Amino acid sequence: MIVLGIETSCDETGVGVVRLHYDGAVQLLADEVASSVQEHARFGGVVPEIASRAHLEAMAPTVRRALATAGVTRPDAVAVTAGPGLAGALLVGLAAAKAYAAAWDVPLHGVNHLGAHVAVDTLEHGPLPPCLALLVSGGHSSLLRVADLAEPVVPLGATVDDAAGEAFDKVARLLGLGFPGGPVLDRLAREGDPTAVRFPRGMTGPRDSRHDFSFSGLKTAVARHVEGLQRAGHDVPVADVAASFQEAVADVLTMKAVRAARDTGIDTLVLGGGVAANSRLRALAEQRCGAAGLTLRVPRPGLCTDNGAMVAALGAHLVAAGAAPSALEIGADPGLPV
Ligand code: KG4
Ligand code: ZN
Repeated sequence: MIVLGIETSCDETGVGVVRLHYDGAVQLLADEVASSVQEHARFGGVVPEIASRAHLEAMAPTVRRALATAGVTRPDAVAVTAGPGLAGALLVGLAAAKAYAAAWDVPLHGVNHLGAHVAVDTLEHGPLPPCLALLVSGGHSSLLRVADLAEPVVPLGATVDDAAGEAFDKVARLLGLGFPGGPVLDRLAREGDPTAVRFPRGMTGPRDSRHDFSFSGLKTAVARHVEGLQRAGHDVPVADVAASFQEAVADVLTMKAVRAARDTGIDTLVLGGGVAANSRLRALAEQRCGAAGLTLRVPRPGLCTDNGAMVAALGAHLVAAGAAPSALEIGADPGLPV
């Protein structure tokens, strides 16, 4: 059984193809991504209108490439991200998925983007026990509880302001490093001292929500620090600021994920989203999960960022579980619970 997955919730047009085996194993056959990230760079963030147009242009060629790579002409099911995400961007993916499902006369499965970020891990590491997921990207920072991939994910916590990736992007911007900021800050931080500046760890006080996040105070603290140095006529030690900022983000994310595992008694943590590519977050998660006796599962960086394989993977798990297909009337749900 072959499942094709389409992802268009943000700025990546992702098309993946997987094979669902009789024993329930899901195998990756193709994962093609066309990104409009460079078109957004000069605006310092994703512009929804540009993203939608780029999806429309990239969709058919990306589907064609994915089918060719997989050696497939007609999949047995189509899965597509129904939300959460940018409304206009989601609509392009949904319209395409409906057209393909109708033309091939195969079932359509609308899936939750966050559930797909978790399901992608099964492509590399096999069946997933009940787990906690920490999903951190430019659009979301969420802690989820996942009992079974075929069931809706249960939100435990989320950011109350900026997403973690958004904080990376905004801090990179104020340091003059371009967009997207995560990869360049990650690289720069390797040459800096993570203890140079003790930036605030948002929402970690005794009276704060145990499982929610806040990153806008951290971003403001970095801005104040940089402005203070500039006003005093000092050079900004960019690598030290990058390393100290990154340390604050990784510290809070891993501290809260381990705390959520303790609170829920779940002993497997899955990381996902673009920020899960961050080298310090991966290292600290490994260290703290090891110390707490938790199993950590992290997809390779290319599968952490938005892609179609994750949607195909979740679609395959739904098919395996005998889930009812979505109606062709299914609409985009930009605000699906996170
Ligand atoms: O999952 P993703 O590709 O798209 C969504 O936003 O949904 O995540 C992109 C985000 C951007 O904010 C980018 O700066 C961040 O992930 N990112 C990173 C790294 N690579 C990408 N953040 C920190 N360290 C990285 N190595
Ligand atoms: Zn995502």
